[in-house]
Amino acid sequence: MDIFEKIERSYGPLGQYMEKAHGYYMFPKLEGEISNRMMFMGKEKLVWSLNNYLGLANHPEVRKTDAEAAAKWGMAYPMGARMMSGQTKYHELLEQQLAEFVGKESAYLLNYGYQGMVSIIQSLVDRKDVIVYDSEAHACIIDGMRLHFGKRFVYPHNNMENLEKELTRATRLASATGGGILLITEGVYGMAGDLGNLKQIVELKKKFNFRILIDDAHGFGTMGKTGAGTGEYFGLQDEIDLYFGTFAKAMAGIGGFIAGNKKVIDYLMYNLRSQIFAKSLPMPMVIGGLKRLELLKNSPGLRENLWAIVNALQKGLRNKGFNLGHTESPVTPVFLSGGVPEATHITKDLRENHNIFCSIVSYPVVPRGVILLRLIPTAVHTLEDVEYTIKAFSVVKERLEAGEYGKTIAGMTA
Ligand SMILES: Cc1ncc(COP(=O)(O)O)c(C=O)c1O
Repeated sequence: MDIFEKIERSYGPLGQYMEKAHGYYMFPKLEGEISNRMMFMGKEKLVWSLNNYLGLANHPEVRKTDAEAAAKWGMAYPMGARMMSGQTKYHELLEQQLAEFVGKESAYLLNYGYQGMVSIIQSLVDRKDVIVYDSEAHACIIDGMRLHFGKRFVYPHNNMENLEKELTRATRLASATGGGILLITEGVYGMAGDLGNLKQIVELKKKFNFRILIDDAHGFGTMGKTGAGTGEYFGLQDEIDLYFGTFAKAMAGIGGFIAGNKKVIDYLMYNLRSQIFAKSLPMPMVIGGLKRLELLKNSPGLRENLWAIVNALQKGLRNKGFNLGHTESPVTPVFLSGGVPEATHITKDLRENHNIFCSIVSYPVVPRGVILLRLIPTAVHTLEDVEYTIKAFSVVKERLEAGEYGKTIAGMTA
């Protein structure tokens, strides 16, 4: 069998839709300034798809800092990995400030959240150790575990009874091997916006001996009184052993960090393969990161705007009878019933007739028969955007319930 021939026969679970979906449902091009309104195929759309929670992507101070840093340092500096030749005082400064902000002793920068998480898991555990994780863990957690030579036990999403059972099994196994237990959960689950059951997970520490690693990609900057994340929201930041955040969402940048006690972070600095064998984060992203963090910390108005939009949107949709699941975060899932044809027709109707661009998820990412429209409110949306969207969604719901999206709609091919 020739590998290329095999690939040509099947483009994979998502690639199989390429011919029909490319450029519209998948790989769409959003153009213009990053904002609540952007251009899609030459027309302005109201966009609810970007994790630009605090509106920092196009904040004038961020744009100015990014531009000045790029002019001063270029995109190349520093060259090489941190360990070899890519270390700077600015990288260290950003780490100090991040650690302080999330209430940990130390932090270490990651070039990408995804790759960082893979490496963090890989370097924390060895074949004697056991990982216990939530069934809805993000792909980066799953991929990190693929590099783990020891056992792993999964518990159904946020199911504490099952978690206790898995921790009992894990404890038995770890005491036989002489290993430890790493529990991995997300702070905010990015698809449906519900939170990791941190209170009860932490409570289980009284009964079992394990360490907690939390992926707070969607919680950093959005959750908690100061924006320090889901641990702060629950008042449990101290109980979280390792806190992972990315710059790809509220920070509107690229990269991420891991924070925890100094010894563990020192260990990671010398063992994290995604950083040891990869080039250092470019200077404009570090200097830009310092500016973003400053705004995130010192401009609470941004988070207040975000939450005003979140609350108006979620309350308005719930009042109109929409099922938003168990979200407690800005991520706003709208659950509808239908298959892939309805999902594609709804997307097209929203984009073409209502000029609303949002992400849509259907089987196999969600169970068969479920359509998930995922809205990400941000600080740069307006209450008018919210009102307009609720009206449009109500029209869509009526059409769906009338069975219109199951048919081929005039002028609309899925
Ligand atoms: C829960 C979660 N973890 C990790 C990541 C990866 O972060 P990054 O985009 O910085 O690689 C994401 C982003 O998609 C995420 O949603």
